[in-house]
Amino acid sequence: MPNQIISTGAYLPELVVTNDDLSEFLDTSDEWITTRAGIKTRHIVTDETTSDMGIKAAGIALQKSGLAAEDIELVICATFTPDTCVPMVAANIKKGLGIESAAAFDVSAICSGFVYAITVANSLMKTCGYKNALVVGSDTNSQALDWKDRATCVLFGDGAGAVVLSNTECRGIISTHLDCIIDGEDALSCNNRLEKTPFSKVERLDDTKIKMNGPKVMRFAVKAVAEAVKIVTKKANVSLDEITMIVPHQANARILHAAAKNLNIDSRKFYINIDKTGNTSAATIPIALDEIVSKKLISRGDLIIFVAFGGGLSSGAVLLEW
Ligand code: ACO
Repeated sequence: MPNQIISTGAYLPELVVTNDDLSEFLDTSDEWITTRAGIKTRHIVTDETTSDMGIKAAGIALQKSGLAAEDIELVICATFTPDTCVPMVAANIKKGLGIESAAAFDVSAICSGFVYAITVANSLMKTCGYKNALVVGSDTNSQALDWKDRATCVLFGDGAGAVVLSNTECRGIISTHLDCIIDGEDALSCNNRLEKTPFSKVERLDDTKIKMNGPKVMRFAVKAVAEAVKIVTKKANVSLDEITMIVPHQANARILHAAAKNLNIDSRKFYINIDKTGNTSAATIPIALDEIVSKKLISRGDLIIFVAFGGGLSSGAVLLEW
């Protein structure tokens, strides 16, 4: 049976940080950040965690779905910034929402995480017979940033988004595509802290912040977005003209304009809200989708595409009937 998104939810921390706020402690400017990345503000946590934000976004999606907590049989959270590894963030979300019995686990595919998570949820629903699943993207990027590195810290924000996926009579999720190429140029990295043990022969890694070669990631991203969109439309046997909206990972408005040019489509088909949120990693797509739904920009029956790229270097897309 196909699966369809029946509701959405999003949560952004209260604190809004402007480009001018960043200029107070960094050698940067509103003009540079706006023209290079299309970002004006981002939300940053002060005392909340990835799990807290996930619980809030998922709670809104669950409430809007009209389902009860016990109807949810699967919870997946896409994140690369878990506040706890044990329990996993999905288990914290499940507990926070009072979901007694459901499978729960996290997916780590960095900024492609939500596209990976929804693809995995769709497959598990089909093979395990689950009727309803919660798929969440939540990231506290601010904890993984070097706040002295102006080339990365100005680009990111914190937030969470969620959807409820349910069995449907309509076409629902029609085609998916996931990929991960070798990051041969070390374009994007973030180390885990490795503790020295009585047996280890390696030095402790203290450098645990996001490192990025922006221009290299940008070249990969423009190509990956265009390719993933072409693959899912081809698999679904639909033309780009039939797509109402593309909901992309929000990393840089320039990447999305260049991808639209590559695909020879109107860049207005790409929904862009990065100006207000920055890059919230696995949360960008569900946050943007929640905004699109609130603004009534799509109607049931429309074909839409989620497309993402990120560390790994991972990428992917999902084409679905709304
Ligand atoms: N303010 C002012 N100047 C800056 C800043 C800043 N915040 N950051 C860098 N600069 C300077 C650089 O030092 C450089 O100066 P130089 O010419 O004197 O050496 C100059 O600006 C140009 O830097 P570039 O890196 O060439 O700028 P570019 O036009 O490539 O834009 C950007 C940089 C915005 C990072 C872009 O490359 C980009 O968006 N890349 C993709 C990022 C991305 O997609 N990330 C998503 C994946 S994230 C994930 O998966 C976790």
